[in-house]
Amino acid sequence: MPQGIWAEVLIVGAAAVAGTVIFSQRVHLDAKPRAKGQAQTTPSGVRIIPYEELQKHTTRESCWIMVKDQIFDVTDFLDLHPGGAAVILKNAGQDATKIYESIHSAGFFETLLKPEQHLGVVDPATLPQVEAVQTEDEIRVEQARKNIPNINLMINLNDIEEEAHSVLSKIGWSYYRSTADTGSAFDSNIAAFSRYWFRPRVLRPVRDIDMSTTILGIPSTMPIFVSPAAMAKLGHPLGEINITRGAAACGIIQGISSNASCTVDEIADARQPGQPLIFQLYVNKDHKITEDTLRKIDKLGFKGIMLTVDAPVLGKRELDMKARGLPVIRGTNNSGAQGTALRAGVANSLGGYFDANLKWDDLAWIRSITSLPIVIKGVQCVEDVELALEYGCAGVLLSNHGGRQLDYAPASIDVLYELRQRRPDILDGKKLEVYCDGGFRRGTDVLKALCLGATAVGFGRPFLFANGAYGEEGVRKVIEILEEEIATSMRLLGVTKLSELKPEMVTRMA
Ligand code: LAC
Repeated sequence: MPQGIWAEVLIVGAAAVAGTVIFSQRVHLDAKPRAKGQAQTTPSGVRIIPYEELQKHTTRESCWIMVKDQIFDVTDFLDLHPGGAAVILKNAGQDATKIYESIHSAGFFETLLKPEQHLGVVDPATLPQVEAVQTEDEIRVEQARKNIPNINLMINLNDIEEEAHSVLSKIGWSYYRSTADTGSAFDSNIAAFSRYWFRPRVLRPVRDIDMSTTILGIPSTMPIFVSPAAMAKLGHPLGEINITRGAAACGIIQGISSNASCTVDEIADARQPGQPLIFQLYVNKDHKITEDTLRKIDKLGFKGIMLTVDAPVLGKRELDMKARGLPVIRGTNNSGAQGTALRAGVANSLGGYFDANLKWDDLAWIRSITSLPIVIKGVQCVEDVELALEYGCAGVLLSNHGGRQLDYAPASIDVLYELRQRRPDILDGKKLEVYCDGGFRRGTDVLKALCLGATAVGFGRPFLFANGAYGEEGVRKVIEILEEEIATSMRLLGVTKLSELKPEMVTRMA
């Protein structure tokens, strides 16, 4: 233990630039910079900046942060930051490397900042002495990772989730697993499947199965896709890239969250030739930013847009809020109201930029920017399916956001059932494609939705958990497990291809 006055500093980061890990460092409180720095430049002209200069820029008027040894002026970026200004300001004038890297890939700043906002490199001789110490949670995670069972022992998606629970950081797990309010919508997403039972057919030849399909006209080996879900880096340093690679290996489509930890460029670079990606869009309060995003994803060759509409503001995610351990903050409600004092979870630092006034007529504006097909994500009743049809959307994703938004919002399988009863013409006439997500964990869950008329089913959390526990291999495992479960259940149901799945093969119990 070094001599002198040491203090353990708990550094809590928020999402996006500020990251989401809690970690501690021992900082020598009487530490003086090892050398008084003078601003100089490297032979290639890069400015060398003393650490004490960085420390002076901690305000809205002048905000600098350091990532690795690079120093950035993020003053003009504060209000553009998807996670809001507060999380950057919290780390202003400091080395934010560890927090930043837990969320963002190396290229994040390079993509978003202008070259002149990169001020230079820190003078290493001026850095204060810092002794990193592990938190209890980091020690627990390290131990759990050593003991994680072989992936081949994973029999179903719940097994993988259980392993994720033991190896993810408390903050990562709590963000992924959190639900709105009482968790009733989340629980009911899973429980709803027990209301739907099969009416199988027998004595049909079922040896050879074909479960391939198309989603928005894009071929998919299976009737499933990766539902866009945020912050894959909270589980694994490669973040969404693992999911991109796993989806490519198995031939399914991946939806990329607006709040992905990797940049869209990095994800696009990780694609296999021709690999289809869909972009999930949260419309920014500043529509100009959304327009730039749409042009970018068009240029990168994304194949469609999932416009999320169930989150004008983010739901109250209690597990997430408790895990962060942050003291109360005010005004986290992204409607702009000065909200009641809340403990800030990861989600609080993600949703600040959403346009809470988005409306059906804004679809015309989105269409004026992009000709990509639009799927409305987060539809929760038949009337809104009808409106999506009226507004010319290519599809709807029936979803209550994994039970993370409005508590007591219906399970998507129940909305689909109601749609089947009231508007079979929409489903059978394929007037638009209908997808479901939320609570799907089994091949049988998928088949129930397909029998009722869905084109495909999205999986969100299972991919985040698998990525967190086993990386890319975990992603492939999820798909393999589902493939096997779907194939077995198709045979037991008496069908060999998806077009043979019919509404009469499912019955709803009271
Ligand atoms: C979520 C958002 C950001 O946490 O999609 O659910």
